[in-house]
Amino acid sequence: MLVTGKQILDKAHKEGYAVGAFNINNMEILQAIIEAAEEERSPVIIQTSEGAIKYAGIDYIKAMVYVAAQKASVPVALHLDHGTTYETIISCIRNGYTSVMIDGSHHPLEENIAVTNEIIKIAHACGVSVEAELGRLGGVEDNISVDEKDARLTHPDEAVKFVKETGVDSLAIAIGTAHGKYKGEPKLDFERLDTIKKLLNMPIVLHGASGVPEDAIKKAVSLGINKINIDTDIRIAFTEGVKSVIVNKPEEYDPRKVLAPAKEEMKKVVKAKMQLFGCSGRA
Ligand code: G3H
Ligand code: 13P
Ligand code: ZN
Repeated sequence: MLVTGKQILDKAHKEGYAVGAFNINNMEILQAIIEAAEEERSPVIIQTSEGAIKYAGIDYIKAMVYVAAQKASVPVALHLDHGTTYETIISCIRNGYTSVMIDGSHHPLEENIAVTNEIIKIAHACGVSVEAELGRLGGVEDNISVDEKDARLTHPDEAVKFVKETGVDSLAIAIGTAHGKYKGEPKLDFERLDTIKKLLNMPIVLHGASGVPEDAIKKAVSLGINKINIDTDIRIAFTEGVKSVIVNKPEEYDPRKVLAPAKEEMKKVVKAKMQLFGCSGRA
C-alpha cells in the first residue's frame, strides 16, 4: 500500500528503529527492493534522485512505483531524494510522490530555512511529507582537513532553530558519513547524534550509509536514526551480478538472463539492511 513518508517515519521514531530508503533507477532495482520488503515484512521508502528522474522519466517512475505499491502488502512511500529545484519538487508532488526532500544544505542557515519553508507550505497543503537537510555530507573524494570536516557537521543549536522555524517532518543531519564508496572507514559523531535527537525528538535521517560498518549503523539506530539512505551498496550488487554473467557466460545475450542474478544480489543486500536497521517485521 502507498503511504506518506511521515506515516512510516513517525512510527519508526515512536518505536525506535530505522527504515531503509533505497534509490532506484529502473524496474529491476525496484522489484528487488519490493520483494525484499515483502519477504522481510518491512515498510520501505523507494526514492529517486533528480538524476534518476532524468534517466527514467517521472511518468515511468510513477507508474512503476504505483503498481509496486498497490500490489504490495507492506507500506511503501515514494520519495524525492535531494530535491534542489523548485520545478522538480513541484513536479514530484503533482506526480503523486508521497514525500519530498528539499536539500538546501548548501545554503546559509537562514536561506536553507526560507527555501525549506517555501516547499513545506505547498507539500503539506497536498498531504506530502517533507525531509530537509542541515549540515553538509562530505564527498568520499573530499580532500579537506579534520577541522573543516567538523565545521560541516550539523550544529545542534542550529538544528533546533531550523526545526522550530520550519516544522519539517524529518531532518537529515551530517555526522560524518559521505555519499559513494568510502576510501577509509567512516567515523560517525555519535555524541552529536545523541544530542540532536534528544533536542529534536523527531525522525532523523542518515545519508551516505552504504559502506558504514554494521556496528556503527546499529549504534546510530539505537541513538535515534529513523531513515537510512542506501544507494551505492545496491549499485555495487547490481553491477557485480551483471559482471558475473558477462564473465562466466560470455555467450549469453538474453537481457533477462543477464539481469536476473543482479536482481538476486540486490535483494540479498536489501534484506540484510532491513534486518540490520530493525525494520524487518514492522509492516
Ligand atoms: O545521494 C545521491 C544518490 O546516491 C543519488 O545519486 O544523483 O547519481 O542518482 P545520483
Ligand atoms: P550511498 O550511495 O552512500 O548509499 O548514499 C545514499 C544517499 O544518501 C542517497 O541520498
Ligand atoms: Zn543522500
